[in-house]
Amino acid sequence: MTLTLENVWRTVGDEVHIAEANLSLERGTLNTLLGPTLAGKTSLMRLMAGLDKPTKGRILFDGQDVTGVRVQDRSVAMVYQQFINYPALTVYENIASPLRIARASADEIDRKVREAAAMMKLEPMLDRTPLELSGGQQQRTALARALVKGADLVLLDEPLANLDYKLREELREELPRVFAESGAVFVYATTEPTEALLLGGNTVTLHEGRVTQFGPTLDIYRNPGDLLTADVF
Ligand code: CTP
Ligand code: MG
Repeated sequence: MTLTLENVWRTVGDEVHIAEANLSLERGTLNTLLGPTLAGKTSLMRLMAGLDKPTKGRILFDGQDVTGVRVQDRSVAMVYQQFINYPALTVYENIASPLRIARASADEIDRKVREAAAMMKLEPMLDRTPLELSGGQQQRTALARALVKGADLVLLDEPLANLDYKLREELREELPRVFAESGAVFVYATTEPTEALLLGGNTVTLHEGRVTQFGPTLDIYRNPGDLLTADVF
């Protein structure tokens, strides 16, 4: 087990954002966080990434306690629901930035950036800036940057919103394969049950800040449980 949450809580004032989360996620697996809006998907990802500290509980990665360890000191790639690009840099440099920080060679940077750009259909846009792109192209730039980073933990928060139907379908097939091959722990948040089904892998269902089920997606689909029938599958 690589990413482990032990009795993790996150409360802000009187509000409970995440309650009693216990989870163990393995490298090379795809884990879909599935729940309706406000279920706590983004909150749980922020805890996994180390962007927020748990109020209670522990987070371990490869057996090491990373509770409260700053995200800069860990190997995490996250594409936010409101994804971020650097407007002053070209698309090429946006995608290259994690590799430059890691001091990769110019050849390696060029190869990886072009591979990721090809997968995200961004090749003609590499010399533009994000301000010259459509919403879907901007989102693909953020995904390409996460792809080249080669992080141990990859968190994609509703990553296919803003994309047209055809590209969604393509990326839904390609992204899990690419990240699984990288050996990362791969977490993907969505409100869409059909998306979880198409992705396969494991599903974590969330309801009002609580993990209600965790297991192979097909098992959960076959036995959705009382609480989830209406909301989830
Ligand atoms: N919350 C909050 N203030 C924020 C973000 C979240 O009070 N800036 C609260 C919400 O009101 C909710 C809980 O945190 O009770 C979980 O929110 P979130 O993790 O953002 O839910 P998601 O499942 O990510 O919802 P969505 O699908 O809309 O992104
Ligand atoms: Mg969210």
